[in-house]
Amino acid sequence: MTEHNHQERAIGIIAAMQIEIDGIKARLTDSYTLNESGIDFECGYIGDRRVVCAKCGVGKVFAALCAQTMCMRFSLDCIINTGVAGGLADGLRVLDVVVARDVVQHDMDTSPLGDPVGLLSGINIVNIPCDKKISDTLCECVKAEGINCFSGTVATGDQFVSTEEKRQYIKSTFNAAACEMEGGAIGHVCYVNGIPFGIIRAISDGGDGDAVLDYPTFAKMAADNSVKAVLRFIEHF
Ligand code: ADE
Repeated sequence: MTEHNHQERAIGIIAAMQIEIDGIKARLTDSYTLNESGIDFECGYIGDRRVVCAKCGVGKVFAALCAQTMCMRFSLDCIINTGVAGGLADGLRVLDVVVARDVVQHDMDTSPLGDPVGLLSGINIVNIPCDKKISDTLCECVKAEGINCFSGTVATGDQFVSTEEKRQYIKSTFNAAACEMEGGAIGHVCYVNGIPFGIIRAISDGGDGDAVLDYPTFAKMAADNSVKAVLRFIEHF
């Protein structure tokens, strides 16, 4: 193993599940693993870029824990969250990709106290903007892979969305293009830490009544589409 230059900034990649990150980990050279906060951070190189990747687990708390630990333990250029999502925008199909322009937490709700739904008290915003240059580059990478790319709001919450009613609520309340369970938490942590971030999600299901069947059928293929674009991003960013 060649000695890592620990001053050299890394691109951080976070995914919730093994199938969403394996394709990145497989490409690491000179890699080693560091366990912190119960999470394995695998560090190495892809081409001449230093990369650190981690499987955070499902949901906002695991995602935030992983992102915060990554921010504190590594010198980072940015964090990219890759994976799958339920599609909400009209015209989106399974295996298409959504690159987030911004993220919201659809299960954050202090509206009984007079706040807008989704307001993140303390930072006092609903939509956390992603880094524009990262998002634009991710979109170009998706298109270069011959995959349809949508840009829009990604809505995050600690729920697998699988009813038409819930789907419509998230879509209409937040004008969201996709729903998932980690991106908003990772964006929140990056925002607070001043780390540029991007969220890229390939569609595994429609977040509707068919989602429980579509998700297991398409998750692996969708995850691979997102990984392809992220690998291209690492080479070009
Ligand atoms: N990830 C993939 N599909 C999802 C859904 N329907 N709800 C939440 N997260 C998801």
